[in-house]
Amino acid sequence: MLLDRAAIENMEKRRRAALINSITGFKPAVLVGTADAQGHSNLAIMSSLVHIGSHPPLLALIFRPDSVDRHTLDNIRGSGRYTLNHVHRHIIDAAHQTAARYPRDVSEFAATGLKERWQQGFPAPFVAEAQVRLAMELREEHELEINGTHLIIGEIVHAQFPESAINELGALDPAAAEGIALAGLDSYYAPALVQRMAYAKPEEPPRRIVEAPPSADSKPQRLKN
Ligand SMILES: Cc1cc2nc3c(=O)[nH]c(=O)nc-3n(C[C@H](O)[C@H](O)[C@H](O)COP(=O)(O)O)c2cc1C
Repeated sequence: MLLDRAAIENMEKRRRAALINSITGFKPAVLVGTADAQGHSNLAIMSSLVHIGSHPPLLALIFRPDSVDRHTLDNIRGSGRYTLNHVHRHIIDAAHQTAARYPRDVSEFAATGLKERWQQGFPAPFVAEAQVRLAMELREEHELEINGTHLIIGEIVHAQFPESAINELGALDPAAAEGIALAGLDSYYAPALVQRMAYAKPEEPPRRIVEAPPSADSKPQRLKN
């Protein structure tokens, strides 16, 4: 299939959105927890999370234009704080439901049954069921001239995750924390590790440090040096 600019432009609106929303491939799924000045909680699923830098530890989200009421964006602007909670396979139904446009005075926690967890001194709620939970401080907001979306850059000030999900290099293995991957706005996948690669160097060929598992049921094997 080949689509040029005119073909993309002429696509039926919903089909174009479905295609362009999914064309980046797999994305993370996180629940963004916020609260207003009175402490009323809000929760919204987002897939635009991107790594900006490790030192300081910065992550960014893209928010849709605020031409309609955007509760999460308003709360982040108000308190400067929010939480990111990884969606895992056991909370997909509830996580997805947080995308529904509930009125401002309805908490998506109450509406979906997900449990709030508050940490003393931090003005945004975590999702108790999540295995990976990050407390974020707003650092920068940029409205993108090209389409009115908002780039929200935040710093991780506190991170909680299962120790068993950290590999020997210190990286988080999302599959070990039952993490899922998203395509588009509606398709949830269970990702599995295929292989891990050593740091690439011009003078060395690609080197596998973890070999592909022989069958879908077996665990990846770490290679001996
Ligand atoms: C799978 C999925 C991913 C989404 N990702 C984003 C996103 O990255 N940015 C965004 O602004 N909205 C995203 N949305 C839409 C929000 O979840 C939705 O607008 C929600 O109602 C916002 O809630 P709020 O008004 O309480 O902030 C996504 C929805 C779904 C179903």
